[in-house]
Amino acid sequence: MKKETDVRAQSNLILQALPKGILVNTQAAGRFNSMVIGWGMLGTVWGKPVFITYVRTSRYTYEQLEKNPEFTVSIPLDGKLDPEIFRVCGSLSGRDVHKDEELGLTLVPGDTVSVPGIKEVPATLECKVIYRQMLDGNALPSDIRERLYKGFGTAEGPDSEHELHAMFYGEVTASYVIEDQ
Ligand SMILES: Cc1cc2nc3c(=O)[nH]c(=O)nc-3n(C[C@H](O)[C@H](O)[C@H](O)COP(=O)(O)O)c2cc1C
Repeated sequence: MKKETDVRAQSNLILQALPKGILVNTQAAGRFNSMVIGWGMLGTVWGKPVFITYVRTSRYTYEQLEKNPEFTVSIPLDGKLDPEIFRVCGSLSGRDVHKDEELGLTLVPGDTVSVPGIKEVPATLECKVIYRQMLDGNALPSDIRERLYKGFGTAEGPDSEHELHAMFYGEVTASYVIEDQ
């Protein structure tokens, strides 16, 4: 069962939980995947409620979004992810592990997108990507570039932990809390 919520009324929960880690979920070519994010923006763009996620191009999540530009966001109601969900979704790649199977997650089909939400992490946004853009490495402040994008602009290039982020602007098409039946 889903209890519909007003996304803007949920903003406090989302923005407080974000730096500790929430989930961005994707589904493409028959594979569900979930990744921890600590960065994001919730606001209004082009008159629409939008959640922006920052995904390094090295992530499996990036590949998934390329194939199917929809995602769900899962936020724990107490603002803190279960430690095992945090570990698996925040350090393992969907290239190597079926994270939902590893964790025994209960996937709940989306209403407006083809990506499910997660019953165990119940506050949910459904998002359709309406715009995307790569960060411009040259426009970044040098201290941030050196700390987070090491190797940018050099012949060697960055390793997988230092590739640029792509910004995916997801129009929020539904917002709810998944409740027990
Ligand atoms: C607290 C925390 C916040 C994170 N935030 C982001 C983020 O905003 N963007 C990103 O690309 N990776 C972020 N990561 C790293 C990914 O969660 C991690 O690399 C994950 O294993 C990628 O999974 P995937 O390859 O299945 O997409 C974060 C990790 C942690 C632990």
